[in-house]
Amino acid sequence: MTVTKESSQKIDSSPSLLTKIKPLAEPDSAARTWLYSGIFWMLVMMLIGIVEAIKLFAPEFLQGVPALAYGRLRPVHINLGVFGFMSMGYVGAAFYMVPRLTQNHIFSERLGSFTAWIWNFNLLSGCMAILMGFSTGKEYEEIPFPFNMLIGLLVIAIAGNLFSTISERREKRIYVSLWYILLAIIPFPIYYTLGNAHNFRGIEDAIINWFYSHNLFGIWLTALGLATIYYIVPKQVHKPLYSHTISFVGFWTLAAFYPWNGGHHVIWGPVPMWVMSASVTASIAMIVPTVATMVNFGGTAWGTWDVLKRDVSYRFSLLAYFCYVGASLWGSILAFMSLNAKLHFTNTTIAHVHLGFIGFGVSGLVAFIYFYLERSLKLKYSQTLAEWHFWLTTIGILGYTISMGINGWLEGTAWEAGMAAQATMLDRYPYHVARAISGIVLLLGQFIFVANVIKTVNYSEKSAPKQPKDSKTQEVAVQ
Ligand code: HEM
Ligand code: HEM
Repeated sequence: MTVTKESSQKIDSSPSLLTKIKPLAEPDSAARTWLYSGIFWMLVMMLIGIVEAIKLFAPEFLQGVPALAYGRLRPVHINLGVFGFMSMGYVGAAFYMVPRLTQNHIFSERLGSFTAWIWNFNLLSGCMAILMGFSTGKEYEEIPFPFNMLIGLLVIAIAGNLFSTISERREKRIYVSLWYILLAIIPFPIYYTLGNAHNFRGIEDAIINWFYSHNLFGIWLTALGLATIYYIVPKQVHKPLYSHTISFVGFWTLAAFYPWNGGHHVIWGPVPMWVMSASVTASIAMIVPTVATMVNFGGTAWGTWDVLKRDVSYRFSLLAYFCYVGASLWGSILAFMSLNAKLHFTNTTIAHVHLGFIGFGVSGLVAFIYFYLERSLKLKYSQTLAEWHFWLTTIGILGYTISMGINGWLEGTAWEAGMAAQATMLDRYPYHVARAISGIVLLLGQFIFVANVIKTVNYSEKSAPKQPKDSKTQEVAVQ
């Protein structure tokens, strides 16, 4: 279904119209539980990332405690990153966006909050199991049975809850954010099950593992992230999206090419040549949706300098946008077979990953939360703290990406010259230290952000007039 410029403007910038809905369901309660949990895991996983980063140049750091060994902390960092911080944060954003884009209340807010709590306890248990040494040993699938199965069931429950809301929508036109949410929730339960419940061995196992893992960040997380910035940016700048036609070109090409990208993680591995060729072609073809997104957001952001100067939330959206475009173009280039031969085993991949996850993932989510505080809860956060947050995050992202980019290039050059990675270890030492410092700067920025959010929400709760306790009628703002 297509959306005209006028209709989207109506969906995007019409004043809130308040719709009475079922009693007992506190509006946005599911969204808040998911969002706040995501932010909590972000702090924890970043802290673990810093410990890992220090261990990579000072191996004696926290030595002697098996649970804190590098090999256990690394998968916990990753799983808390993808399933804790990113999944929870962006599912929270989806729980916020879906009722507004469909003009319908969430099918079940209670189920939404319930799944969030179970998700939290299950993730904690799965990660504790990894720290105790019970890992499957396969990347992005390390969480052992039965915790991995419960994640699968919860993904189905989330998808069902959101899909039921969308299928009963009152707003018949589908804005592009909703397309991206559908792209995330419909196939992901299948990808997840395939990745975690198959019985392949050897090379088939590796191919399926990467098919699933790639779609975990390519479809599930990226689609939810793009849905979020497509939702907030037009509202932040008070104008319609530059082009709906381009957004659909971007959407459909992403949906068509991304699922084929998995094989680019095993380039030059012992996999059939057609798997490599298909995934390299699809990775290069990903330039089309990336450029579509670049042009569309560029066009929307054009001439919004005044908003950029005063609105930190919008600044974070643009940071997310630049990092998304940067990480994606970098990804397409990394997939060239000749370049991949040089860079695959190096820190350039780590730089690419973090430009995507921190630059796009962290910035997009914090942009959304500032937006939520201001537009939905009508609360004004501290501008000074938000400025600090923005600059520390920007410095952290740049520091991480540049230090690991150079580090990886030195590694790749040594590898090409037939030298062992150890031979350049001392030359690369300063870049490892720089990455750890960048991580600390980043985490400091996020602590300032959390303090700002808590202070803002607490202050409003204390100063708000008391609601009568027996008032059960709830309202949801459908924008
Ligand atoms: C304070 C910020 C962070 C620091 C210091 C940090 C540090 C690290 C370190 C040291 C590694 C291991 C690199 C290696 O094996 O050589 C790593 C890997 C990884 N991190 Fe982070 N990280 C941070 C934030 C994040 C965030 C926000 C995410 C979001 C999900 C994330 C996701 C990942 C992933 C997926 C990997 C595995 C990459 C791969 O195997 O290619 N990290 N991180
Ligand atoms: C057009 C878009 C993208 C393309 C074509 C792409 C391509 C690639 C390639 C070729 C690699 C493998 C490098 C190697 O191991 O030799 C890779 C790794 C990775 N990419 Fe991307 N990328 C894209 C966007 C992103 C984004 C936006 C994110 C995060 C939000 C991301 C997350 C990752 C992760 C986590 C890995 C590391 C997996 C691992 O080895 O553990 N990518 N990407």
